[in-house]
Amino acid sequence: MVSRVIPVEPFDLVVFGATGDLAQRKILPALFRRYCAGQIPTGTRIIGAARSAHSPDEYRINLAQSLEKNLTASTFDPKDLAKFLELVSYVPLDGSGETGWSTLCEALSGAGTDRVQVFYFSVGPGLFGPLAERLHSYGLTNGATRIVVEKPFGHDLETARELNRTLASHFDEGQIYRIDHYLGKETVQNLMAVRFGNMLFEPLWNSQYVDHIQITVAETVGVLGREDYYERSGAMRDMMQNHLMQLLCLIAMEPPAKFDPDAVRDEKLKVIRALDPVEPYHIVRGQYAPASGAVGRDLNYRETVRNQRTRTESYIALKAHISNWRWAGTPFYLRTGKRLKARSSVINVMFKDAPHSIFGEEAGRHANHLKIRLQPNEGITLSVTIKEPGPGGMRLMDVPLDMSFAEALGPKGGDPADAYERLIMDVVRGNQTLFMRGDEVEAAWAWTDPIIADWEARGDVPKPYESGSTGPGDADLLLRRDTREWRGINP
Ligand code: BG6
Repeated sequence: MVSRVIPVEPFDLVVFGATGDLAQRKILPALFRRYCAGQIPTGTRIIGAARSAHSPDEYRINLAQSLEKNLTASTFDPKDLAKFLELVSYVPLDGSGETGWSTLCEALSGAGTDRVQVFYFSVGPGLFGPLAERLHSYGLTNGATRIVVEKPFGHDLETARELNRTLASHFDEGQIYRIDHYLGKETVQNLMAVRFGNMLFEPLWNSQYVDHIQITVAETVGVLGREDYYERSGAMRDMMQNHLMQLLCLIAMEPPAKFDPDAVRDEKLKVIRALDPVEPYHIVRGQYAPASGAVGRDLNYRETVRNQRTRTESYIALKAHISNWRWAGTPFYLRTGKRLKARSSVINVMFKDAPHSIFGEEAGRHANHLKIRLQPNEGITLSVTIKEPGPGGMRLMDVPLDMSFAEALGPKGGDPADAYERLIMDVVRGNQTLFMRGDEVEAAWAWTDPIIADWEARGDVPKPYESGSTGPGDADLLLRRDTREWRGINP
């Protein structure tokens, strides 16, 4: 069960924004790891491009330090570092001006017309258009050119459409890779394997058998260091519109005919389009505040962003309905927040009670429950009803059938690849299955926009919740009103 490494042909990859946080923390470490794994061959060229005036040697020295800092001891392999750095060069470049572009042309010269070229836009969306234009005007594209863009893909439907139009005027949809890093997580892909690789679950995967589904993405971190971005986004734009929406799609979609990019994305799109508008009273927004007696700037959202009147939410919970044959009548409860009790991303599929108890009501009733742990401690637990041991009649109890992926795969499972490793190599291989299509992103914004517009029109103020808690009390009421309860947030 050792993961197989299939080397690719030598390729060119240009990272615009190469000195930025994402490039340093995720993109370049991911490339280094893939190199160490033997997937990236000699002859590949990795070119950092950014405004800073470094020489290629200075950039390589800084990169070596940042790789060591951003990878853990078990994932940083110094023996391959020097060889990896030989693949890397750097071009100081102005993305919206003309400086540096001819140097980039030289750096990329000599490649055949079918050599894979990846341009990674690790920059703000304001630069997507200028970069795309220049790639064309400097003749830097070929038939195998791909561009990668990061979230936030727009701020709302209008800006997302505008970005799509800009990119579409320079590239085909088949060349555009919109990253949602949640889709690159091993266990998120496992959602599809569990659903569509087993006969066991799919017949029960509908409103006849499923009472409701809970999707929780809880974080312990706050927003310190990203205040400006977060103030403009909030949990709705930062997490719900993309990551939780993607999880919802994978859980709710119909089986695609095959695991191919358009087949999968067509089915996800149908889910988003089938979502009902969310009633304002089915939404709870929160903002983290210090627990009594606690001090610390990032325990208090308002203080962190230095705005005592901010109305940006760091937590959101909502109840969503999907109006289609499979899911009509089954609510989906989604929640995400910062500074919560534990880091835990979990999907709980809560099945209905058995229709009739042959043991009588006094034996107790227990509904089955499938818990899919996305991170940490990835795995699956299925609760099953059995007889309570011992004499004295038939009493029922729940026991977990528990599988931790780490235990099941053992040391052979290896060190799981980071989402970026998988996604970048998918770009190189030209596989768009785990990337969002333009219409998918627009549909997600079309669902999100009215929700945000309603808060703004009403001047809605998020409820405070204690840092380290499970979120605002009103989120509990959201389920209690339906005689349901959130499952705990546990590491
Ligand atoms: C990012 C958000 O997309 O995802 C962050 O902008 C969030 O606010 C992060 O912390 C969570 O990702 P992960 O992989 O740590 O669950």
